[in-house]
Amino acid sequence: MTDALILGQTLAFSVSPFDVAVEEAARHETHGAVAVRGGRIAAVGPAQDLRRDHPDLPVTDMGEALILPGFVDAHMHYPQTGIVASWGKRLIDWLNGYTFPEEMRLADPAYAAEVAARTLDLALAHGTTTLTSFCTIHPHSVDALFEAAAARGMAVVAGKTCMDRNAPEGLRDTALSAYDDSKALIDRWHGTGRARYAITPRFSPTSTPEQLKALGALWAERPDCLMQTHLSEQIEEIAWVRELFPGARDYLDTYEAAGLLGARGLYGHAIHLEPREIDRLAEVGAAVVHCPTSNTFIGSGLFDTAGLVPRMPVGLATDTGGGSNFSMLRTMGAAYEVGQLRGAALHPAQLLWLATEGSARALHMGGEIGTLTPGAMADLVALDLASTPAIAQRAVRAEDIWEALFPTIMMGDDRAVARVWVGGAAVARPA
Ligand code: GUN
Ligand code: ZN
Repeated sequence: MTDALILGQTLAFSVSPFDVAVEEAARHETHGAVAVRGGRIAAVGPAQDLRRDHPDLPVTDMGEALILPGFVDAHMHYPQTGIVASWGKRLIDWLNGYTFPEEMRLADPAYAAEVAARTLDLALAHGTTTLTSFCTIHPHSVDALFEAAAARGMAVVAGKTCMDRNAPEGLRDTALSAYDDSKALIDRWHGTGRARYAITPRFSPTSTPEQLKALGALWAERPDCLMQTHLSEQIEEIAWVRELFPGARDYLDTYEAAGLLGARGLYGHAIHLEPREIDRLAEVGAAVVHCPTSNTFIGSGLFDTAGLVPRMPVGLATDTGGGSNFSMLRTMGAAYEVGQLRGAALHPAQLLWLATEGSARALHMGGEIGTLTPGAMADLVALDLASTPAIAQRAVRAEDIWEALFPTIMMGDDRAVARVWVGGAAVARPA
């Protein structure tokens, strides 16, 4: 059923709460409704108005649950689902010790299909309706994710991870095969249903300049694709990039020199940026992606949300399995904590906006997902704002919706997810 009148509390942004006061940016209805027709949002507003205007729609009453756009995870690695929360290592050792051995296992197409399905089911259970994922170097790992996404009706962004050096035998391609395989996958998947392709060089240390250039050339041929990679995540990584690319002005320059800097580029982490890098990212309109649970878990550093949001699009992401949690609620909570450590208390409205519309805009999917606006896809989540005794006893004192929501942002998890809809269809709960 993709037509419905969903009743509950609603919270809809008309503009970014980073640009104007929160009261101006968002509209809250205590007795609200979302009308869904043909899988898209037809109207959002007071329940009594929508009941009057849409008398034909079957009603789903979510009581006091808060109806929001489904969360949008702007950077993650589905092949790492099985190694989430692996102990004790910093980035390079973590990649070599945990990540690469696990990614090797996806050489088996059946295993790749199983992990893809498991990851998407976990995402949905946590209220995430779109994710942007790195795959492995195996082209079938991309097929596996897009097939699993299509089976669930989900909009997913993904690409074949390309690496032609500093990775073990079995996880290396070449400049040419990375180009050829990525091109074939773009032809097969980009724009097929809700699938979107992101050209995916893993990061400069695992690509030769020749491979980066080949992928830059591919992006120039297919500028409608996104491009995702990692940038300035950890101090040791940046020093390594300096050794590997002695002629580069900085880390971003290793991408720029290869044609891998552009408005549809997604640069994950972007913690230790030079002023020139910030200026260049801003000039071209590229997006950076904040991965707060990963940045604390792997010990990478503190992303400057308050400083970067006014300069460029910023998405929010779990970075599973470098990130330590599938929940975008926990991710918002971590973004709040990181903000505090940098002297900026992000408002719950700003955290929620980053996890929905901010990420959607970073993916160039604003207006389509991440928003409770007529015309957008009805990818929705209903949150129980009293999902545990600890949250309930705090939320009961709330004087407005932000105070009611913040305990769920800080303490909530998949127990707070009362229901999820993808394209207006309710997602069945796992048995
Ligand atoms: N840098 C290069 N590859 C990765 C990865 O898989 N995870 C994280 N967090 N950083 C990376
Ligand atoms: Zn990553």
